[in-house]
Amino acid sequence: MCGIVGYVGEETGAKDIILGGLKSLEYRGYDSAGIAMICDKKIVTKKKVGVISNLEKIIGDPEFDSNIGIGHTRWATHGVPSDLNAHPHCNMDNTVAVVHNGIIENYMEIKEELLRDHDITFKSETDSEVIAHLIGVYYDECGDLHDAVTKATKRMRGTYAIVVMSSKEPDKIIGVRKDAPLVAGIGKGCNFLASDIPAFLKYSGQVYFIENNEIVVVTKDEIKIYDEDKKEIHRDVFHVTWDVDAAEKAGYEHFMLKEIHEQPIGIEETLTRRLTDSGEINLDGISMTKEDIEKFDKIYIVACGTAYHAGLVGKYAIEKMAKITVETDVASEFRYRDPLIDEKTLFIAISQSGETQDTLQALRLAKSKGARVLSVVNVIGSSVARESDDVFYTWAGPEIAVASTKAYTTQLVCMYLIALYMARTKGTIDNAYYDRMITELKNIPEKLEMIFSQEKDIEKIAEEFHRNNEIFFIGRGVDSTVSLEGSLKLKEISYINSFAIAAGELKHGTIALVENGTLFFALATQDSLTEKMGSNIEEIKARGAYVISIAKEGNELISNLSDRCIFIPKCADEVSPLLTVVPLQIFAYYVAKFRGCNIDKPKNLAKSVTVE
Ligand code: M6R
Repeated sequence: MCGIVGYVGEETGAKDIILGGLKSLEYRGYDSAGIAMICDKKIVTKKKVGVISNLEKIIGDPEFDSNIGIGHTRWATHGVPSDLNAHPHCNMDNTVAVVHNGIIENYMEIKEELLRDHDITFKSETDSEVIAHLIGVYYDECGDLHDAVTKATKRMRGTYAIVVMSSKEPDKIIGVRKDAPLVAGIGKGCNFLASDIPAFLKYSGQVYFIENNEIVVVTKDEIKIYDEDKKEIHRDVFHVTWDVDAAEKAGYEHFMLKEIHEQPIGIEETLTRRLTDSGEINLDGISMTKEDIEKFDKIYIVACGTAYHAGLVGKYAIEKMAKITVETDVASEFRYRDPLIDEKTLFIAISQSGETQDTLQALRLAKSKGARVLSVVNVIGSSVARESDDVFYTWAGPEIAVASTKAYTTQLVCMYLIALYMARTKGTIDNAYYDRMITELKNIPEKLEMIFSQEKDIEKIAEEFHRNNEIFFIGRGVDSTVSLEGSLKLKEISYINSFAIAAGELKHGTIALVENGTLFFALATQDSLTEKMGSNIEEIKARGAYVISIAKEGNELISNLSDRCIFIPKCADEVSPLLTVVPLQIFAYYVAKFRGCNIDKPKNLAKSVTVE
């Protein structure tokens, strides 16, 4: 949420570079955008509610450009989306401009003090504006931007990444972060600060990750990182290996469709990184020992949204294979329920972005109580990755669409590998089972291509049903967890009211909603549960439901009972979620397309939820 771009270089051109950067951060979700530059020794700020093209319309003047500037895409928390509430915010005499991502929890207290002692007039309803005034007040006292920012951040509570510039020191931008992402990019004759690497990847693939409470001072010639006591910190440069193209659409109409089709390669890459030629799982870079694994008596898997759904499959796999009790919880609940954690607890955080605030805070809670923390993360160097004892990376590549697809399937692959590794270590599975599962996983990419060959048929089903107001998803066993994901995918991008429930639970209440024409997706891929699912399909059909089922090739019982059946290739029950979810992703995509929705950036949603 909220995107920050700061640039300082030798020549003018900051406007286009910052605008381009903001566009690369659109995936984070936003409702307004703004830019401030130092032009003729004065800060000039332009901001506009709505999409970035609204801002572009008001900054066309070629005179409005500079060699230094800061830009922002805002996702409203305090105050409605409006021109005034958009960032950057400036102090009273317009000598300090600030962009902020996060929430300043004690902003009311600071605001009251600024009103009382400094007679400040506020222009916006935001928490962020207090930062500009506070830095302005401190600058007047000490005459040094670095010191003023340090002093101000010591007063601020909450989460923030901020970038500041002042017309009194027009050669630099200064950034500081606490629990919100901030990275610095090393360019040629220029340097950058941003919320994420794509904002400057066109110009620089050399990055410094800024840590909590560090202050980064950026001029055109150098980037210096300091601690809170102004002591310089040495940081290794991170070299980005993926390129700009990887973050673009490669001919697909939407990022979501591109990312759906990238699942075979993402899965293959995630497997390749962890499997030796002989099919053994290597834990390179992970310090967890056999003794550690034998010690764990409980595992928590904690995550949000789609990552939580991956965690539900993880529970199923670990309990079945490694015979350890697993609880999967949504991070926002886990944090506030006094979970029982000690040194024998393994805490697994799953997060695509690695910046999800609830997941991060749950991780910190678990760590503070002695749990061992293993994370499954896509974004290298993200906060969750850095704060974990060990990281099991998903190799999905950048995921831009708000609706998560390839992150989910690569997270599943990691969960299976973790489960198999633990099971092998504990001796709860034999070699034949292990080898069979590894082969099943390796065959998934090819089987996904077989599902893609049915894309046109799924598109037709989507066209037929895209006007439905309500769709139910049911399943049993691990299918019930995939039904949650299918339902989330549909609701978040098509805005159809969809609902997922374990098929066996239907008759305990929800079946009351079934009437003539009620549309159901029945996930029936588990061989051992086919007959039970058959009965559930009969129950709803008897009440008039229209049933589209998903079953393994050749499952005539299910296809005969259903109105329609989408087949997935035969596979072991355990790994079926890797296949079953894909027709549901494709269905959601085309339904949203037929409904004319903004597929990659659905309303009200952000790619990276960095506030509670
Ligand atoms: O970056 P994370 O994996 O931590 O994000 C978690 C959720 O916010 C995310 O999965 C969300 O539910 C997606 N929009 C689902 O498509």
